[in-house]
Amino acid sequence: MKAYIIKKYSKNGHLELVDVPVPELKPEDILVEVHAAAVNLLDAKIMTGEFKLILPYKMPLILGHDVAGIVTQVGKNVTRFNVGDEIYARPADFRIGTFAEYIAINEHDAALKPSNLSMEAAASIPLVSLTAWQALVEVGVLQKGQKVFIQAGSGGVGTIAIQLAKYLGATVATTASENSFDALKDLGADVLIDYKKQDFENILQDYDLVLNSQDNKTLEKSLQIIKPGGKAISISGPPTPVFAKEAGAPWFVKMILSLISSGIRKKAKKKAIDYSFLFMKANGNQLSKITELIEQGHLKPVIDKIFPFEQTNQALLHIKTGRAKGKVIIKVR
Ligand SMILES: NC(=O)c1ccc[n+]([C@@H]2O[C@H](COP(=O)([O-])OP(=O)(O)OC[C@H]3O[C@@H](n4cnc5c(N)ncnc54)[C@H](OP(=O)(O)O)[C@@H]3O)[C@@H](O)[C@H]2O)c1
Repeated sequence: MKAYIIKKYSKNGHLELVDVPVPELKPEDILVEVHAAAVNLLDAKIMTGEFKLILPYKMPLILGHDVAGIVTQVGKNVTRFNVGDEIYARPADFRIGTFAEYIAINEHDAALKPSNLSMEAAASIPLVSLTAWQALVEVGVLQKGQKVFIQAGSGGVGTIAIQLAKYLGATVATTASENSFDALKDLGADVLIDYKKQDFENILQDYDLVLNSQDNKTLEKSLQIIKPGGKAISISGPPTPVFAKEAGAPWFVKMILSLISSGIRKKAKKKAIDYSFLFMKANGNQLSKITELIEQGHLKPVIDKIFPFEQTNQALLHIKTGRAKGKVIIKVR
């Protein structure tokens, strides 16, 4: 089968299209014929080696974290899926590789694809919606009537997180360029802040939760708008020793993360704010709940651009600009 790989970490490298064997199945795996994949900044960050402490991948590595496709084979212990099922997934770390014609995925990391979405639209969903779910539902425990600030509302995570927060009954503030305001109002955003002209920390106050996806400066400013007892959840760092422990990282990684996150942890503690770093995980059960929300019309995909498989490198370059409005998709079949 054809697959896009990297052979080593590199700052400005590109993916190489190669022929590799179709993956072999473990007993709990399904073999998925890939119809569409989505590109994530995580792919670009893995390419540069930025994640090598946390995710020490072996080379060569097939990249790609989001897939929609059809089950063509099932392992001997599979109970949740049958051959012919249309599924979507964010395969687990160390089992990634959706920029390929086939991928083997543990059945517990996949869910039936929403019946009202095309393969391309479905591929846009898993990683960002699981991130939003794990931030807002699992860690944030966002309640009806609470106020949440979701940074970068027009991005892949932002467009889904806004919709999920509205479904949960929260008031949503977000930052975006002015030309995205109408689209984000349609998704349900209540308070829109033009990050190029306005300072959110002078506008928002007494927020229950912040979903931080920007730099450390933005994270520090976010602490100013959270009320005591509120939560700051960052998906863009700095990672904490708690995260290192959960990820089973070696002691020296725990030490490094303890050092790089000590400033923000201290500042948050002083304000009685709970700071945590979230690195989303594959989860087929949560994805099944997301399928329901999509089929009920509560969540809809936002797609920036669809690239053909042959242009996977261009798709990666496109998201690296940081300007995508919603998700960037690769049509594989
Ligand atoms: N830890 C995790 O589990 C996890 C999961 C998913 C993503 N992430 C991380 O979260 C971050 C966001 O991911 P993403 O996929 O949503 O990114 P993305 O789709 O590439 O975000 C692009 C969007 O961000 C907007 N934007 C850029 N700078 C901004 C700023 N300063 N303020 C407000 N909006 C801004 C852009 O709008 P304009 O073009 O209008 O500027 C654009 O629409 C990345 O660092 C990613 O690696 C982490």
